Amino acid sequence: MIERPSGRELPVLDLPPAPPPRRPVVAGAIADPRLAEFLPEELVLPRFFVWTLGCQMNRSDSEEMAGALIAAGCAPAPALECADLIVINTCAIREHAEAKVIGRQGQLAALKAARPGTRVVLTGCAVRETDRARLARRYPAVDLFLRPDEEPELVARLGLAGAGTPGGAVRSAATTLVGGRAVSAADHLPATRATAVAAGRVERHSAVSAWLPIVYGCDKSCTYCIVPLSRGPERSRPFDEIVDEARALAAAGYREVTLLGQNVNSYGHDLPAEERFGHVISERTAGRRLDLRSRPDLAELLRAIDGIRTADGRPAIPRLRFITSHPWDLSDRLVTAMAERPSVCEALHLPVQSGDDAVLRRMGRQYTIEHYLERLAWIRAAVPGIALSTDVIVGFCGETEAQFEATLRLLEAVRFDTVFAAAYSPRPGTPAERLADDVPPAEKRRRLNVLLGRQEAIGHELNRAWLGRRVEVLVDGPAPQRAHDHDEPQEPRPAPAGEGSLALVGRSRHNKLVHLAGRPDLVGQLATVEIVHAGPFALRGRLIGAE
Ligand code: SAH
Ligand code: SF4
Ligand code: F3S
Repeated sequence: MIERPSGRELPVLDLPPAPPPRRPVVAGAIADPRLAEFLPEELVLPRFFVWTLGCQMNRSDSEEMAGALIAAGCAPAPALECADLIVINTCAIREHAEAKVIGRQGQLAALKAARPGTRVVLTGCAVRETDRARLARRYPAVDLFLRPDEEPELVARLGLAGAGTPGGAVRSAATTLVGGRAVSAADHLPATRATAVAAGRVERHSAVSAWLPIVYGCDKSCTYCIVPLSRGPERSRPFDEIVDEARALAAAGYREVTLLGQNVNSYGHDLPAEERFGHVISERTAGRRLDLRSRPDLAELLRAIDGIRTADGRPAIPRLRFITSHPWDLSDRLVTAMAERPSVCEALHLPVQSGDDAVLRRMGRQYTIEHYLERLAWIRAAVPGIALSTDVIVGFCGETEAQFEATLRLLEAVRFDTVFAAAYSPRPGTPAERLADDVPPAEKRRRLNVLLGRQEAIGHELNRAWLGRRVEVLVDGPAPQRAHDHDEPQEPRPAPAGEGSLALVGRSRHNKLVHLAGRPDLVGQLATVEIVHAGPFALRGRLIGAE
């Protein structure tokens, strides 16, 4: 553990922002030792570590927080154990996700006892207005709690504002009501994002692939889901700001952009109507009427970003993805845009949750399996060979064995490339809390294992179809060291072939993880790879050539 003196302690909870700090003095800038006592003491800003759990939206939010801290003069710490400021960006989708952080409170308390200047900030989806009172009890090592929509206030609330932070005042988040409950208000997030992007204050995780949030919050009311309570109602970012951010990413050399939102398909319904979007004609009922006429939608956005071209007419961002789509909002316009626009990747994540209509109804998903299959048939016809992935919940309230088997049959019928499955976990304050959580834990685990076993065989079979084929792989970087806690099971890695060669990893357009051996300068390039091995979760290939 690296110890370093902390020249300044971070204020605890809710202190008003400190006055602008004195500028750091560069050691050795003034040689005359007689002047030393007149010099301001060196300002040591905290070294921070952001621990991020949960989905891509959280990862994207963490990039913004890290960027703000760096702009304020703080430096990243290599590990949580040696940071003065620990920011935990939590997930609350299942109880287990919250328990992971609750379980670390003892360690955090010990770190604080050893180094009393250490401060812990907890943000993300575990910080809900409805649960405010319980937070201090559940997370005793935490000094400051910020809801997801309060994250832009991080620097100011820590008293670091002014420490080299350009970009002006931070707007304070308000609360709003969803079903009579106080939740986050996402209203100001589009503007704070635009300011952060304009000031270059987004610390992106990669120089190859970028996340680009397009809509915050969620207006759906799936009965099991905590997200609307954590993230509040939907707010779309203005169309031009998104396209500008994409243009800047293209200019910075990014090869892949993933548009983010809890439900990207409903992008734009809350934006003002404009004449230039007069051709967007679509109307839908989403618990209430959504009039999309003359408002931009996801299809329009894909077309505009695909339309950013290089001098020789190719898409400046060769790969465009979006996540997550709700089946109910998947429009004809979106499918057509996917089919027509060359940069939009041939992969779609379309969570189904269950293969049984009665369960779907209890989940409040607003579609039937017939409708879901109709959408898939349509998209498969428009984008032949498209890779499909989905989310499934097993053991939801009242799920019978027969209903679970309907989900298994659905997986066999559709043959998804990837299935992210989880056992139902009741979440406080959600409508499903009022239903009986009557599938016993052991039975939920059994169903989960059966489902994952079936899916592994299907995924393996689909992957084998790639053997011998040549695919375009965007090389992300060196293959990560195997971690116990890795999201996806790992495939055998290729032995680095030849001198200067590394074990690398990348993704195909169909979002397949591909291992290959190659030189480090392949990172960020689109390589042509021949698939020589297919496992259930990843492929391995031989490098044929690169750009
Ligand atoms: N907005 C996305 C998903 C967000 S949450 C969508 O609607 O598809 C990601 C996944 O977590 C969900 O698709 C669901 O499968 C799972 N999930 C959400 N709440 C859950 C709960 N209470 N228990 C178990 N899994 C849950
Ligand atoms: Fe949750 Fe449903 Fe919204 Fe997805 S669409 S975030 S599952 S409420
Ligand atoms: Fe988790 Fe929140 Fe994402 S609950 S999955 S981090 S939106």
